Amino acid sequence: MSEAKRLAAEKAIEFVEDGMTVGVGTGSTVAYFIDALGRDPGRIKAAVSSSEQSTARLRAHGIEVMDLNHSGNLSLYVDGADEFDPKKCLIKGGGAALTREKIIAQASAKFVCIVDPSKQVPVLGKFPLPVEVIPMARSLVAREILSLTGGQPVWRDGVITDNGNVILDVHNLAITDPVAMETALNQIPGVVAVGLFARRPADVLIIGGDTVQVL
Ligand code: 5RP
Repeated sequence: MSEAKRLAAEKAIEFVEDGMTVGVGTGSTVAYFIDALGRDPGRIKAAVSSSEQSTARLRAHGIEVMDLNHSGNLSLYVDGADEFDPKKCLIKGGGAALTREKIIAQASAKFVCIVDPSKQVPVLGKFPLPVEVIPMARSLVAREILSLTGGQPVWRDGVITDNGNVILDVHNLAITDPVAMETALNQIPGVVAVGLFARRPADVLIIGGDTVQVL
């Protein structure tokens, strides 16, 4: 799958315009995108990064990393996903960077999502849904999620996000109404962000493979 990821990432370079400040996601597919940007680091003005991991990789390529508070809204955000459905709704957060990813997606006019074909599903939920939670609310949020969704929340033990929080991965979901699920989970006190990108889905999907599809 890594060749499919690389091909999707290379295609996303076509959306990058000279002098842009580009929003950059997190993960192994995005790593290929950062490396592609790094072939000509002076072409973009800067990047706004969704994680410490991506920040380090961007800086290693000599790309300036800017704070979103200074950049203002962005024209372009490029990121991967753990699952996508036919409406370009996504599950994200396998790399625990969902909160900053969601913030940058919201701040961006165009969200280009780069994936390999294995991420395609008819209904979201086969991949456990990541939820970032304030540590003291972990058990409360787990109970609320269980009673609200019937899904099984599992604490991602040993993982602390870049924001100092914990992750619950919710198993056994079939998310037939992603907007309603995202809205409902967002209301639970202690939830920082839900890894469902349905209220703000991707605008463009690039699926790598023998034939690269741009949807
Ligand atoms: C990180 C994410 C990633 O986009 C997602 O996990 C996909 O990762 P990869 O490109 O390594 O398959 O949401 O929080």
